[in-house]
Amino acid sequence: MSSLQEFIKAMPKVELHLHIEGSLEPQMMFDLAQRNGVELSYGSVEEIEAAFRRGARFENLQDFLDLYYAGMSVLKTEADFHDLTLAYLERAAEQNVAHAEIFFDPQAHTDRDVPFETVIKGITRAMDAAEERWGITSQLIMCFLRHLDEEAAFATLRESLPYKDRILGIGLDSGEQGNPPSKFQRVFAEARKQGFRVAVAHAGEEGPPEYVREALDLLQVDRLDHGNRALEDDALVERLAASGMALTVCPLSNYKLCVVDDLRQHPLKIMLDQGLKATMNSDDPSYFDGYVSENYLAVSEALDLGREDILTLARNGIEASFVSPERKKSLQRQLEDYAAAAVA
Ligand code: ADE
Ligand code: ZN
Repeated sequence: MSSLQEFIKAMPKVELHLHIEGSLEPQMMFDLAQRNGVELSYGSVEEIEAAFRRGARFENLQDFLDLYYAGMSVLKTEADFHDLTLAYLERAAEQNVAHAEIFFDPQAHTDRDVPFETVIKGITRAMDAAEERWGITSQLIMCFLRHLDEEAAFATLRESLPYKDRILGIGLDSGEQGNPPSKFQRVFAEARKQGFRVAVAHAGEEGPPEYVREALDLLQVDRLDHGNRALEDDALVERLAASGMALTVCPLSNYKLCVVDDLRQHPLKIMLDQGLKATMNSDDPSYFDGYVSENYLAVSEALDLGREDILTLARNGIEASFVSPERKKSLQRQLEDYAAAAVA
């Protein structure tokens, strides 16, 4: 392991943009298909890996989403959601992730007749077990699928209410083009009224800067997921920087989904130089060839980032997290102790 690799792996960090369904590894997909008697169109783990295009890229976001939604058909029981979540949290804890904010897509399951309760009970049981076993804390963000309509999002919001105490906030994901944040303005307003404390949205991944403005103005997001295309609009960049709005950046995802042509052209360094609060995340680690440490390493090598830049990204992540003030202080202390020891 290179010294940069060791520095990144041992660094205490947080992850703020992670779709739990995107952490479904080929081996687990294969095993769950067998356990649940689900017919997959792949005959082996190797065939699933080939479908994930390990080492190669998807054509765009939709090309990936088609596989992502098909892949999660193996998730059926509470035990499946538990095992999926525990596997992610174990892997994250191994990489010294101290806190994770996890997205889940309930509509992708309830539309297959898997009850909301099954999904949330499995995920939260694993979150509790992981905290007990490895000390990793986590919170849940419920995403609405933006390719579906407003009424479907309202129905999901109603279904989620009995579990509100286990859901920190709401998000917006899936195919961005043609599905602007404005489509969900009333759903987000109602969710806030119902007591969901925070809101985030994918914006500017493939969609135009206007979608980023809508996420800010109409959904009143507390954090932006991706946000890459905000860079096309100088006034918007100034606004984001001045307001300290955090961006959950996902470099390997951007590469695998052709948001950038080459990691060496990734705008992460430009974001930092322009005063944007960029954070480092993996998005869908199983599909994009890397968990959060691999993201730090790949982009650090591609952009020649040093330890100070890496620490800035980790500090931004803690700052942008939705933890309590006490937990935030504790995470900050862990990171600063690590930084001090690393340069000593
Ligand atoms: N769902 C899972 N990964 C996603 C991504 N990168 N963009 C939008 N929706 C997603
Ligand atoms: Zn995402």
